[in-house]
Amino acid sequence: MSVRRLLVTSALPYANGPIHIGHLVEYIQTDIWVRFQRLRGHRCIYVCADDTHGTAIMIRARQEGRTETDLIAEMQQQHERDFAGFDVLFDNYGSTDSEENRRVCHEIWRALRDQDLIVEREVSQLYDPQAGTFLADRFVRGTCPRCDRPDQPGDSCQCGATYTPADLIDPVSVLSGARPEVRKATHLFVQLGKLHDFLVDWTQSGRHLQSEVANYLKGHFLHEPLKDWDISRPAPYFGFEIPDSPGNYWYVWFDAPIGYIASSQQWCDIHGENLDDWWRSEQTEIHHFIGKDITYFHTLFWPGMLKVAEFQLPTKVHIHGFLTVGGEKMSKSKGTFVKASTYLKHLDPAYLRYYYASKLGSRLDDIDLNLEEFASKVNSDLVGKVVNLASRSAKFVETSGLASTYPDDGGLFARAATVGDEIAEAYEGCDFGRAMRLIMELADRANQFVESAAPWKLRNDPAMADRLQEVCTITLNLFRQLAVYLAPVLPRLAEQTGRLLNNPIQHWNDSQTPILGSRVARFEHMMTRLDRRDIEKMIEESREVEASEAAPTAAWDDSGQPLLDEPLAEQCTIEDFSKVDLRIARIVAAEEVPEAKKLLKLTLSLGGDQRRTVFAGIKAAYSPEDLVGRLVVAVANLAPRQMRFGLSEGMVTAAGPGGSDVFLLSPDQGAQPGQRVH
Ligand code: 2FM
Ligand code: ZN
Repeated sequence: MSVRRLLVTSALPYANGPIHIGHLVEYIQTDIWVRFQRLRGHRCIYVCADDTHGTAIMIRARQEGRTETDLIAEMQQQHERDFAGFDVLFDNYGSTDSEENRRVCHEIWRALRDQDLIVEREVSQLYDPQAGTFLADRFVRGTCPRCDRPDQPGDSCQCGATYTPADLIDPVSVLSGARPEVRKATHLFVQLGKLHDFLVDWTQSGRHLQSEVANYLKGHFLHEPLKDWDISRPAPYFGFEIPDSPGNYWYVWFDAPIGYIASSQQWCDIHGENLDDWWRSEQTEIHHFIGKDITYFHTLFWPGMLKVAEFQLPTKVHIHGFLTVGGEKMSKSKGTFVKASTYLKHLDPAYLRYYYASKLGSRLDDIDLNLEEFASKVNSDLVGKVVNLASRSAKFVETSGLASTYPDDGGLFARAATVGDEIAEAYEGCDFGRAMRLIMELADRANQFVESAAPWKLRNDPAMADRLQEVCTITLNLFRQLAVYLAPVLPRLAEQTGRLLNNPIQHWNDSQTPILGSRVARFEHMMTRLDRRDIEKMIEESREVEASEAAPTAAWDDSGQPLLDEPLAEQCTIEDFSKVDLRIARIVAAEEVPEAKKLLKLTLSLGGDQRRTVFAGIKAAYSPEDLVGRLVVAVANLAPRQMRFGLSEGMVTAAGPGGSDVFLLSPDQGAQPGQRVH
């Protein structure tokens, strides 16, 4: 097998927040893949950096009364500590605020200018008069101009639309709660449209992208002319000033991916290597691992920039889904928004590495951390099936060592060696879930062997000493084979195994031949059972009281208009109120009513088999597919009303004047269909 040269990256985490278990899906995934490649004997470097520029950092530094440089240095230290705690091992961890990055940004910029890809255009941007700054896209929220969905970020909507913050309806600055002003400034744009043919070709052919990603790009972006990409921001901005456009700075998303190259440059400088061998050579494979939310930047902008500046294009962009916990978004109030540092106070990082590996596939599906499954998988697989093999046998051969010839094991070792190819293929294709399943099947067989050979019985009979040594030689070799296969996921276990058997695990092929005659060290404890109380402690420590996750930090500025438009109703008594039976309901089906312009037909579930059909005047505000699954508050005892289209058996509650300004009420997380609202 020829030795491949690979350069691997994970997305650069923003310097304005801590690493949490959601981030770790990607870093653990990438680290496993990198360790796998190295174990196979390939040359592989893994680079990353903090993503430091932009308005968020600038504002936060201002709020904390310190310089941005000081703030990002502290964050970087925390990030590096957290990654190391999870055995995520980078060859270089840089910063986008580095001189190397500035140089590569200049180089790419020059190429864009030389090829006439930059145009200037006047842009109306939102300015927060209270905070005294233009607002980064993420600092503005408002209603999507395409689908009217409320409370969307300033650059893109859940419906897939991308736009500029100035296009939003009713924008609000999340910094101060103030209504932003529109101010004009000249911005610089990359004419991405000129690269359209190249991007169609690159995304749609070859194997650079998962097929669902290639299709998504074709259906959402490449079927029409590509929009120019706005890559400058006027001062004040924390970033690099554009050399030939003083007072303007590169937008954070311009210099962030360039950070991959800059971090590689730092590594090259330290190791006396040439950057072009890694970024301008067809001999090198470049692999990016990212989450699905930043697909657009990595599969359109980034290949475009690389192409123009004559860098090597990515061999593959590996895209993964998001993490949910217990089937829901991570939540600070529920304590499921767990920081890496909090996790490490309570639990062994190996648990999470293994659990994520067992859940990761090659597609973009979200992965769910189910805490009960997490505990039982770790205990039954890692402790019960793998480590147990060693703990039940090593102590019996502490003095004798392993046998000098490999005993007859009925073909167990040889069969498991053959499965190695399949396991390797699964790792290579990022189907770690499959790799873990195959490995656990082998562990099951090894356990059947120990169970029936029962070394703990043999040791009581001096006449069986040789057999005892044979049984333990087989068991420990089967154990070691598993430790090799698991080494990318559980590097510490691999090291412990190496020490136990006086034989370090260095190569995948260590799984192919048994070791013989070796000394066996004193068995040291390898992994404890996961104690569910530690999970509870971790969740408890992560719980935060939140006003609202996206709460404005300063003045609320609510207008009195809605109350003027609709004054309060006449007073009512508690008895009056309790006549209305409000219930939590789940929308289990939603469809348009062809003959009715404003209505959607909703099927509500009140739990069990209790269903209600309701016609709701919300068609202008919601599309049916976005409603299915969500919880609403329904009037459950409203007298049924015969309508032209059918019987309406209740009502869903919503605020707003009507039309596209309708806002359904939802309960906080945790509410169950059928619960009464008091
Ligand atoms: O989405 C994010 O967290 C960005 N900081 C990722 C940047 S990845 C790369 F392009 F730098
Ligand atoms: Zn939208």
